[in-house]
Amino acid sequence: MTGPIEHLETLAGKVFLPPEEFAANAVATAALYDEARADRLGFWADQARSLHWHKPFTEVLDWDNPPFARWFADGELNVAYNCLDRHVLAGNGDRVALYFEGEPGDSRTLTYAQLTSEVKRAANLLLALGVQAGDRVAIYLPMIPEAVIAMLAVARIGAAHSVIFGGFSAESIRARVEDAEAKLVITADGGWRRGKVSPLKPAVDAALEAGGATVEKVLVVQRAWDDSQELAWTEGRDLWWHEELAQVDDDHEAKPFEAENPLFILYTSGTTGNPKGILHTSGGYLTQVAYTHKNVFDLHPETDVYWSTADVGWITGHSYVVYGPLANGASVVIYEGTPDTPRPGRWWEIIEKYKVSILYAAPTAIRSFMKAGREIPARSDLSSLRLLGSVGEPINPEAWLWYHEVIGGNRAPIVDTWWQTETGGIMISPLPGVTATKPGSAQTPLPGISVEVVDDKGNILPNDSAGLLAVTEPWPGMLRGIWGDPERFIDTYWSKFADVPGGPLYFAGDGARRDEDGDVWLLGRVDDVMNVSGHRLSTAEIESCLVGHPWVAEAAVVGAHDDTTGQAVVAFVIAKARHAGEAGADGATNTLRAHVATQIGAIARPRELFIVNELPKTRSGKIMRRLLRDAAEGRTLGDTTTLTDASVMKAIADRLRH
Ligand code: WTA
Repeated sequence: MTGPIEHLETLAGKVFLPPEEFAANAVATAALYDEARADRLGFWADQARSLHWHKPFTEVLDWDNPPFARWFADGELNVAYNCLDRHVLAGNGDRVALYFEGEPGDSRTLTYAQLTSEVKRAANLLLALGVQAGDRVAIYLPMIPEAVIAMLAVARIGAAHSVIFGGFSAESIRARVEDAEAKLVITADGGWRRGKVSPLKPAVDAALEAGGATVEKVLVVQRAWDDSQELAWTEGRDLWWHEELAQVDDDHEAKPFEAENPLFILYTSGTTGNPKGILHTSGGYLTQVAYTHKNVFDLHPETDVYWSTADVGWITGHSYVVYGPLANGASVVIYEGTPDTPRPGRWWEIIEKYKVSILYAAPTAIRSFMKAGREIPARSDLSSLRLLGSVGEPINPEAWLWYHEVIGGNRAPIVDTWWQTETGGIMISPLPGVTATKPGSAQTPLPGISVEVVDDKGNILPNDSAGLLAVTEPWPGMLRGIWGDPERFIDTYWSKFADVPGGPLYFAGDGARRDEDGDVWLLGRVDDVMNVSGHRLSTAEIESCLVGHPWVAEAAVVGAHDDTTGQAVVAFVIAKARHAGEAGADGATNTLRAHVATQIGAIARPRELFIVNELPKTRSGKIMRRLLRDAAEGRTLGDTTTLTDASVMKAIADRLRH
């Protein structure tokens, strides 16, 4: 069907029906819901069987010791074999696995056969460097093929990776390397960002100077360093990736590992100052990401070109750049740089160049394109696009409609996918050939997934009411724990609804509403986690970073609404009396904002920072963040009667107004 999609007007707004032609060829049909409802565990076992098991499993789920789940536990597989070798053996070695586009305009294509051989070689290198199954390897790389190769090589030998987003600081690297006790770090000299080299190895050097004693070697990919600059080198520790690879061969047989063998740790912000190392394992995780990738994105691997714009440093990059798509034999685009380099239309040029058919992006990006104007995407031919995805934060209906019309030409269905680092894979989403979608709603739990909106006690709420999102049954891609901290795992996710019948339920930390049809609308976080440009940031982590600055006595951080980034970091700081002079000087707020960027990473830099004399506190001494958020968002102040000193808030609000 060409031309505008039919839609129905309802009380909830427009409803978009799947285009007929799309539905006729769709991978997922409504039968999936029936199958999963009839036999949930049998359904997951079927999904798992679409992977290659060196040793088939006989047991699906072991939930005898909640919340510690084991899926397919007596089965054995190799994750990298599933993403590589089996496609080559099936005769698809010539299919493109990766289309790499570098920011300066260089490009590289790797077929499945080539990628397999690169990963085998890298696996041999890791073994030669003494990395063994069960060890941890930290990866701090730009979006280049080596990032994918490194992840798969680590997986191939049964070790676990911890990918650290390239925007994170030396201090963040140190903390993550130490928590995971990584043996090896794989980094690059630098990567290209906004037309410049953004150095990476110097941050690793600084991190290892400050700690990270378990690290024996640092492998360095040559990517972007300018010859005119000196690259510091620690003899005996630092090795060039290309030189070392040249010394090993590409003959490597993938050995099977238990389904519950750790695959990776990925750190994410929580409600305290320390990031949590979310642990994912092999068989269940790969089952869920492959299943969701195929059905939610309607993947036809022979013909589709798939592009998820996420960085491998985030969970979307793990599940929907690397593991899901490659397990399904997809052709995947990866792009190193920013959307507006060297021109504002770079993304759309990439779509035209590679004839991308499936695009997965974040609402923040869509809103910033909206702001820049539809004439920019109009310069490129986007007619190859047939499906659009959204992830990371609620997509507002205006952005949804713009995405649908301007990018998808009123032709491509949109899948708004709700999930988390902890869930491993997509949990709530339309099925594109099946579901009639409402702009702004993530719709319904996928077949096999059980989600409810509950009240504070864990009682399931009826349609047309709002509460907290909970997952009521274990799922294959669920996190298996927080690295080294089982207590925190239980407390954070499983204690809130521990005693409800059928419990414990998984507490997601998100508010949600079910509408009169039972469709789910996400309402944002209910804890002190912010969502900035689809990235999770912790108020507590930024506060403790600010308090670590010599001038700062106290700090409060809130996430305030932002038209483009969803939320933005706004900080309120009280200076120490003896540093009042420095803190009062011109540029002091910028110094403190920059301090956050160097300590945590540029994404955590507060949009605004106010140096104030007092913070609003309850009589028991708790900072009233709600009031600060009201003030930062320009709302009239709510109830201030519980404050020790109501004039504090008035003073802050007056400051903000000016
Ligand atoms: C939010 C990203 C609304 C949510 C995959 C969740 C969303 C957090 C959506 C997880 C969506 C993600 N609609 N909110 N489609 N997708 N979120 O761990 O608050 O980086 O708890 O995983 O992002 O962020 P994370």
